[in-house]
Amino acid sequence: MNGVMPFKNVISTQQFSNRSDLEDLFESAHLLKTLPAWQYPRPLSGKIVATLFYEPSTRTRLSFEAAVIRLGGQLLSTESASQFSSAIKGETLEDTIRVVSGYADIIILRHPEIGAAERAASVTNVPIINAGDGAGEHPTQALLDVFTIWELKGTIDGLHIGLVGDLKYGRTIHSLVTLLNLYDVTIACFVPETLQLPPALITRPVTFYDDWQDVAPQLDVIYMTRIQKERLPANEVSRATPGLVLDNDVIKHLKSDAVIMHPLPRLGEIPPTIDTDHRAAYFHQARNGLYVRMALLQHIIKGGSIE
Ligand code: NCD
Repeated sequence: MNGVMPFKNVISTQQFSNRSDLEDLFESAHLLKTLPAWQYPRPLSGKIVATLFYEPSTRTRLSFEAAVIRLGGQLLSTESASQFSSAIKGETLEDTIRVVSGYADIIILRHPEIGAAERAASVTNVPIINAGDGAGEHPTQALLDVFTIWELKGTIDGLHIGLVGDLKYGRTIHSLVTLLNLYDVTIACFVPETLQLPPALITRPVTFYDDWQDVAPQLDVIYMTRIQKERLPANEVSRATPGLVLDNDVIKHLKSDAVIMHPLPRLGEIPPTIDTDHRAAYFHQARNGLYVRMALLQHIIKGGSIE
């Protein structure tokens, strides 16, 4: 992709159809990490980015906003758009997007409905970045997840990756699995019976476990997730919780160079006692969100989607 996004909107990781698209982005993110802040490029100078969030967020919104500021842009931000935008008066998402398109050069959208980012993109020429659409996708999280693996392990091919927790409603997992399918990896899913990966995402042999069993010592990456209680039908919550916990009993069986990841927020699935373990990478992963989102914004601008 040579530093240029081959598409204007970032709706789904299915848009990334080859490794070179990803690895160009990773090289840019890596380069940004090596620069002192005063040397960051300022391609967003004179541009306005809107962060329109209809669902709670800490990392995604703040790292996107930090990325915009670091690249010289300015922000319009609606943090609780369900209450503090005209959505509460009954305005449709489409109308809101049409209006915000008159004010902003890029719109970053988080919304509780699957397909919301695609609907938004269909009514505007302003680039839309999906920051999470319900239980659908979270493509920029998956980009930073794969970047973190690439950075810490030096490769993605050949890795044995365990996905743990709520694989049914966890949108980070949906986007991640699609990106991992570009590589030669072995995927092991550790998941309660009711929270299995959607069958449409299973395009390679995947092994399912309901406990750590004997496979934990073989894993190179353990990607933990929380149970998405807010998305589960009420009658499923008690069957799904608590999910598997990565406690000291489990981590003593992991490889010495395993990488423990989590998109955060965590609940009880990773006790704080694990945080000082040298394999715990989740706060590093969250920090990488800044650089990957900076790189993504840079690539969108270089792609000429905004004047
Ligand atoms: C995730 C999300 O919003 O889907 N959080 C994040 O963006 N890092 C994960 C989650 O909420 O469980």
